[in-house]
Amino acid sequence: MKIVTIVGARPQFIKAAPVSRALREAGHTEFLVHTGQHYDENMSQVFFEELNIPTADYNLSVCNLAHGAMTGRMLEKIEDVLLEIRPDCVLVYGDTNSTLAGALAAKKLYLKLAHVEAGLRSFNMEMPEEQNRVVADRLSDLLFCPTETAVSNLKKEGIANSPYGETVINVGDVMYDALLFYSDIAEKRASILDRLQIERGQYVLSTIHRAENTDVPARLDSIMLALREIANEIAVILPLHPRTMKILLESTQSVRGIKIIDPVSYLEMILLEKKCQAIITDSGGLQKEAYFFHKPCITVRDETEWIELVDAGVNCVVGGDKNNIVEAFKNLQSETLDFSQKFYGNGKAGEKIVEVLVHHEPPGETNRKLHCKGGG
Ligand code: UD1
Ligand code: UDP
Repeated sequence: MKIVTIVGARPQFIKAAPVSRALREAGHTEFLVHTGQHYDENMSQVFFEELNIPTADYNLSVCNLAHGAMTGRMLEKIEDVLLEIRPDCVLVYGDTNSTLAGALAAKKLYLKLAHVEAGLRSFNMEMPEEQNRVVADRLSDLLFCPTETAVSNLKKEGIANSPYGETVINVGDVMYDALLFYSDIAEKRASILDRLQIERGQYVLSTIHRAENTDVPARLDSIMLALREIANEIAVILPLHPRTMKILLESTQSVRGIKIIDPVSYLEMILLEKKCQAIITDSGGLQKEAYFFHKPCITVRDETEWIELVDAGVNCVVGGDKNNIVEAFKNLQSETLDFSQKFYGNGKAGEKIVEVLVHHEPPGETNRKLHCKGGG
């Protein structure tokens, strides 16, 4: 089988790694297209090296643009690549602009589209991520869900296993695959705790990068004030996304007391997660990784897609209010949490995805391939 994988942003490199490995092991040909959305060495290249992802076959260098321009240029360039390769299937991941552009480009050419991490919903259509994932799901032939919640979200939207070829399947979470594979390796190789001179269990780990937090100055100020207050009690380590870094550098907000560092590699990050006391974040990936490592998580957003963690009482969604964040942190110390439920599969999502890709042949597929020939 000939597969085109489209990635562009940090979490997509991590999500693609286990699937890419499974594809190679099963003898399939994968062409990797990097849209260029994330481009700093520590936001892109480092993940290819650490996770042993083959170098991208195409780098489209589309970055630093407004959403419409970014998505449009990616769409145009991805279409050219797909016409050249004519793959059996296009794989997109998650909910970024690269996901949306890849999904649109594939379906405009009547190619089979598979969406990994399908079915997640925040039910907040103001979020660019929600817009991207809803469209990607609507267009996809194969919808690889990470959880039962995701399957049920799709069902409510009328997307299910259907005679028209849509296949919705809970394969588990590819980020769980990645973490299981790399957790011990991180212990052996990453030396970040020594480098930062922090003790295991003696710090809180935080990341903040979502538009809803960075683009409203008062909200970002409030979050930083909360982290500063918590830093009076315990070290707060904040590996900072360049988006947030640029905004903070231009603001008058003091970040005194918070240990701000550049984005770290995946192995360094999972070691930081494994050894911390708690996580305060707006990242989707970190909410789950907190759970995998049995760490309480405070989510600095107004809603989350990973609702099962909230129901299990291990993830507290507090929004951006300073007092709510600080209070949630204080409450954590008195709570006994249960991390025993298996929400995210068995760590074999990558293999399962490849197995389904190989066997899926929806009705009408032959006709669609014929249409694709002209490309116009
Ligand atoms: C994107 C995703 C978001 C995801 C995040 C993961 C969309 C709409 N958003 O947000 O869902 O959670 O990636 O990290 O796709 N920048 C750099 N260097 C880089 C990358 C970004 O300096 O390597 C800066 C640039 O100023 C850029 C800004 O960050 O304009 C925002 O980058 P962009 O890719 O547009 O969105 P993210 O905030 O990274
Ligand atoms: N991550 C990393 N280094 C960092 C911050 C995050 O390796 O400095 C990893 C993290 O462990 C997780 C993924 O990146 O696997 C999450 O990406 P991000 O928070 O950028 O995006 P989101 O998950 O919110 O879409």
